[in-house]
Formats: sequence, structure tokens, C-alpha cells
Amino acid sequence: MQDATQERFGRTAERIAAHQDERAAELEEKIVRFVDPSGDERALDSGCGAGALAFALAPHVREVVGVDIVPELLEQARKRAETFPNVTFVEGDATKLPFELGSFDLVGTRATLHHVARPELVVSELARVVVPGGRVLVIDQIASVDPLAAGELNAFERSRDPSHTRALSDVDMRTLFEANGLVLERAQTVSEPRHLDAYLDLAGCEGDERERARAEAPANYTAVLGWYLLSKP
Ligand SMILES: C[S@@+](CC[C@H](N)C(=O)[O-])C[C@H]1O[C@@H](n2cnc3c(N)ncnc32)[C@H](O)[C@@H]1O
Repeated sequence: MQDATQERFGRTAERIAAHQDERAAELEEKIVRFVDPSGDERALDSGCGAGALAFALAPHVREVVGVDIVPELLEQARKRAETFPNVTFVEGDATKLPFELGSFDLVGTRATLHHVARPELVVSELARVVVPGGRVLVIDQIASVDPLAAGELNAFERSRDPSHTRALSDVDMRTLFEANGLVLERAQTVSEPRHLDAYLDLAGCEGDERERARAEAPANYTAVLGWYLLSKP
């Protein structure tokens, strides 16, 4: 699965970063409202890509570290970090983070769990590297608890992007958090209508794959995102 991730995101890194730039101000406003940082945190963005979450947090915390496995995305992130002296990026695996126990006050991951074969490891790593009393932010697409509906959603997403593993349900998410001793502070679900052509373009989905994805796309496709803010006792 990591090969599929490298291939898909390596090929589309520039496009992803440009899309991120267009939405950066809106994301920052939403993240700050949901997380309400104190200003003194050392923060982690796990599976940072081109740094969307890292840059949203940067003006509101002391320091941010982003980690990702795709060098092309990190290159885009580092270009943008030139104007953010408190942000650095390192290459690494979200399921085996290269950080010590309790290294961060605030840790987050956005849109990464559904690209990982073992999302439970991403969550357990976040719970490990956050300090007791620290906070964990998870934002990801969620699937219906109905296995048939979830199966259809995941089939479409995999046709669009072979690095998609599966979207978890809200219940799966909450079970994972509880299993890692994390306490839910705040949650919301946000519906995001996806313009199909733009969404396929963003993944570089072309040719026969594009036709298959089009055929499998749910009518009026709207992604549902779960936002969760947790604390580590
Ligand atoms: C949809 S992108 C989201 C990127 C970014 N978090 C954002 O909000 O724009 C998914 C990201 O997960 C990263 N990723 C997937 N598996 C990973 C792993 N095992 N370790 C680190 N990053 C991973 C991909 O490289 C990609 O950057």
C-alpha cells in the first residue's frame, strides 16, 4: 500500500499543494476555532502531505513538525515553510513515528487514516508521542456503519485513487480512541460536496480508471468528514 501511496502522491504533489494554497485561509480559521490552541504548543502533523494542517496551526502554536512518507509532498511543504520559521518537515512513517514518548503537546492527523492499511497504528502512535495532558486532533473521511454503503464508498474511492484503503465509521473512530485511552473533548461531522471532475483530477485519475470511477461514483457525491478533538489523561 505504501507503494501505491508513493506513486499516487508523488505524481500529484504539485496539484495537491496548489489546491491546498487555495483553501489555506479557510482551513486555518476552521482548525483554530475547533482546536483553540494556547499558543505555546509543540505540535505534530502526522501524514502532513504538503503541510495543510501544519501551516494552519503554525501561526497559533510555538512550533510544528510535519511528517510524511512521500518526498515530493515534503518538497512542496518545505517550499511553503520558507515563510514559517517555526515549521519543519521530516520524512517518516505515521505508523512508526520517529519521536520519543511524550514529545508533543498537540498532535494531529488530517485525511491520512484512510490511506493506511493499519489506521489503528497511526492513532496509537499519536497517543504515544503526545504528552499526558496533551491533545489529539483527528480529521478524516468517515463511512457509513452500514457495510454495504461503506463498501460502495470505498470501491469508488479506490477506483479514483488506488492508495485509498478504507474510510472508518464514526463508531470505529471512537472505538480506536477509547482503546488508546484518549478522551473525546469535541466532535463534529462536516458534509463536503465533491465536484466529481475536479475530485478525479486532484487524484490524477485518467483514462479507463477515470471511466470506472465515474461509473462507481455515488450520485451527487458528498464526503462526510469526522472531526475529533481528544485529550490524553
Ligand atoms: C489525502 S493526503 C492528506 C495530506 C495532508 N494531511 C492534508 O491534510 O492535506 C494523505 C497523506 O497521507 C500520507 N501517508 C499515507 N500513508 C502514510 C504513512 N504510513 N506515513 C506517513 N504519511 C502517510 C500521504 O503521503 C499523504 O500525504
